[in-house]
Amino acid sequence: MRENKIAWNILRVRETGSTNSDLVRLASEGKADEGTVIVAESQTAGRGRQGREWVSRPGAGLYFSMLLRPDAPPAQVATLPLAVGVAVARALEGLLSRMRLSIKWPNDIVANGKKLCGILCEAGARDGERYIVAGIGINVNVDEHSLPPELAEIATSLRMLANREFDTSSVLASVLTSFEEVYRLWLNGGIPAIGKDLELRDYLKGRRVEMRLLGTPVSGIACGIADSGALLLRRDDGAIEEIYSGEAHIGSNG
Ligand code: BTN
Repeated sequence: MRENKIAWNILRVRETGSTNSDLVRLASEGKADEGTVIVAESQTAGRGRQGREWVSRPGAGLYFSMLLRPDAPPAQVATLPLAVGVAVARALEGLLSRMRLSIKWPNDIVANGKKLCGILCEAGARDGERYIVAGIGINVNVDEHSLPPELAEIATSLRMLANREFDTSSVLASVLTSFEEVYRLWLNGGIPAIGKDLELRDYLKGRRVEMRLLGTPVSGIACGIADSGALLLRRDDGAIEEIYSGEAHIGSNG
């Protein structure tokens, strides 16, 4: 059993464009080790999945990126974003008493159907050594009244869920502790080692999902997550489609 203690090296900045971009740059220049974390009070060019913007105002959220150099085969490394999701869900759940958090494949953290956290993992290599930058944006102290109505319908925060403010440094410490534990399980056993947790948190399971595959719309009933990390979609003709990337939307009767 590999123990893999991570030597966290936390770099705090007041404002930056994107902590992911900063850490990708450092990693690609060979200037950062596994465990380097960049945390920003605000980001002026925060990035989300699918090329979206991640609005990162000071005081509203926790915005950070961590550098990982997993010693694992490429097919397993491709599943790391799911493990990051499990780690964050466990940590945030520990801060919210009696609340079950779900994971919307691949790794949005969802509470009562609303997004609490988004994760953007970016892979690169230098001198043949792969690295992953896992960027995490958690809605911490956002209050309901500061959200535009269209966002209030789809987003939530720790504060909105618990009716109190949270200290972002404590939230970061909880996530890093949880990540270290889940990372060790994942390094030793891949997705099967955290599969039960993932299955219990699978927000899409049993719902009708619509997505685009290479531009073509597909829909079906989500029926789980494979050990390869793929979303399993049962098409209306009964065929099971394995989906490796994309954005899953809940269908109109999902
Ligand atoms: C998503 O749900 O679309 C992913 C959002 C990821 C946002 C985080 S905030 C810290 C890190 N820096 C970025 O520019 N993005 C990630």
